[in-house]
Amino acid sequence: MTAAGLRLPDGLVRGTSRTAAGRAWLDSLHGVVHRLARRWEFRVTGVLDSRYGAVLTVRGGPTGRAVLKLSPPGAEALAEAFGLAAYQGAAVPALYERDDALGALLVQELRPGTPLAESGLTDEQATEAVADVLDSLWSVPVARLERPRRLAEYTATRPAVLHARWTAAPGLAPEALLGAALRILEEWDDPPAPVILHNDLHHHNVLSSGGRWAAVDPKCSLGHREADLAPMLRNPWRAVEDVAELRARNRRRLRSLGAALGLDQDRARRYALANSLDLALWSASIGATDDAGYLAAVARSLW
Ligand SMILES: Nc1ncnc2c1ncn2[C@@H]1O[C@H](COP(=O)(O)OP(=O)(O)OP(=O)(O)O)[C@@H](O)[C@H]1O
Ligand SMILES: [Mg+2]
Repeated sequence: MTAAGLRLPDGLVRGTSRTAAGRAWLDSLHGVVHRLARRWEFRVTGVLDSRYGAVLTVRGGPTGRAVLKLSPPGAEALAEAFGLAAYQGAAVPALYERDDALGALLVQELRPGTPLAESGLTDEQATEAVADVLDSLWSVPVARLERPRRLAEYTATRPAVLHARWTAAPGLAPEALLGAALRILEEWDDPPAPVILHNDLHHHNVLSSGGRWAAVDPKCSLGHREADLAPMLRNPWRAVEDVAELRARNRRRLRSLGAALGLDQDRARRYALANSLDLALWSASIGATDDAGYLAAVARSLW
């Protein structure tokens, strides 16, 4: 599959081709890149590895180098555009251009752009870097988020989905673990003072940029700060798969992040458990059995 003569990552093509809408989006990419290149005056120079959107390096934009991210238009693409716009000035790349109808963002190219997962830092140092980025993002006033969605509105929709998916794949997790996740999701509420959550802040979405760390790929909503720890508790992806090891590592991380950011560690643990089981069941539902097993192990480690 190529767009504008460039080869897209196999994982992106495989994942997106599962639905008719995804295939139509892939087919449209060539034309979209062409139109945007003329309108925003850039030239495509490369393709970065990605799974959910096409991420291209380009020559152009105010500094001469930029990254073009194209996502299937819809709620998730909008949550990213709104989030990046709200976070401007905090630890994220500068947003140069956006076209919400096309699901397109032209942003600063972070350089060197090394992901935290490949930084060679110790787990403690990486956890400190995550804490700094979260602190920066959470300091953004919530009023800056266009058309805010509430995380609690989303969690309220999850129990029925989890229950149905577990019934189709009951071997993935004990019923008592499912019960724990359902209770957490049913009881999840709005805090008195919400923040703009990134919702996908982990070691592959935190990149080095001129001596600091910055976050890409936000999927913003408003809610309890503790919910934002879930993605980092299951990353770097499958670096540790043993439940006891995951438990020990995540306890350490919860302690240090809880202390550094003044968080309720148990609330963070509970959300990460429910959210990881949710993703495990989704992975099982699309036949991604290895990822499903890993995510179920993460959920168990937080039980
Ligand atoms: N502004 C940027 N500057 C430099 N590199 C970037 C930038 N944005 C994204 N990247 C690189 O491209 C990768 C994919 O981008 P992103 O996470 O936004 O896409 P995605 O479709 O959600 O992919 P994934 O499923 O891998 O998270 C990032 O992990 C990062 O390595
Ligand atoms: Mg990403």
